[in-house]
Amino acid sequence: MANALAKYIAEKDPVEGELLELLAFNEKMAELGRMAAGVVHELNTPLSVIVSATQMILREEGLPDFVREMVERVNQEAHRLSDMTKGVLSFTRRDVSDHQEADVNQVLREAMTLLRYEAHKRSIAVIEDLDYRLPFIAADANRAKQVIINLVMNALQAMGEGGKLFIRTSQNGEGGVTVQVTDTGPGIPAELLGHIFTPFFTTKEPGEGTGLGLFITRKLMESVGGAIAVESTVGEGTSFTLTFVAAE
Ligand SMILES: Nc1ncnc2c1ncn2[C@@H]1O[C@H](COP(=O)(O)OP(=O)(O)O)[C@@H](O)[C@H]1O
Ligand SMILES: [Mg+2]
Repeated sequence: MANALAKYIAEKDPVEGELLELLAFNEKMAELGRMAAGVVHELNTPLSVIVSATQMILREEGLPDFVREMVERVNQEAHRLSDMTKGVLSFTRRDVSDHQEADVNQVLREAMTLLRYEAHKRSIAVIEDLDYRLPFIAADANRAKQVIINLVMNALQAMGEGGKLFIRTSQNGEGGVTVQVTDTGPGIPAELLGHIFTPFFTTKEPGEGTGLGLFITRKLMESVGGAIAVESTVGEGTSFTLTFVAAE
């Protein structure tokens, strides 16, 4: 219906036609968003079963090393998925509890415990340059961790095999805290750079990417009064900069 109308008007008036198409597109996006929130909500129950069942297995004594290692991984990944679902759900609600604070270096250490193995598997060197005199950030530690995991996973996936991942924390001019995640991957072509924060935009194979990571990441950053910026050079790499407000 909206499409037929858009088509009709597009023939009469190209500019207005385009606007209508955009409107129809936005409606579709909103509908997709609602569906995604529903799906994500449904994922929570099976995920918490996986988390607690693997925790129970890990309490057993005398597990073979290999089994323990693999079950630990399943447990960590299920935790990560569960954090992710919480991230998606948290921005579909209005956020009221913004009086949170976190130590960004501690958040990074926890995120990197999970990710170092992923980097190692891909022969990617992780180089950290952390400023230890940072103020606490005004953000929930788990959400900040999710944001960092999203960026680091994107960087690792972009590099594939080999390369360097730089993680820097510093204090910015306005008393806030900056976290920079830089990779030596293929970079993002200028014509795609404007689209990477759009929901469902992905250059990955179906099943590998959802195109929701950066969209969620930006929403999470905005929900704590922060920001995310990107710089990229094809053939050199990509750098994402997160800016957090310092806690009171
Ligand atoms: N570090 C990076 N290097 C190169 N491309 C990137 C990087 N981070 C994100 N991208 C691009 O942005 C797209 C969207 O990222 P994201 O929203 O996390 O979704 P997904 O990872 O599911 O594709 C990716 O498919 C990729 O094309
Ligand atoms: Mg991603």
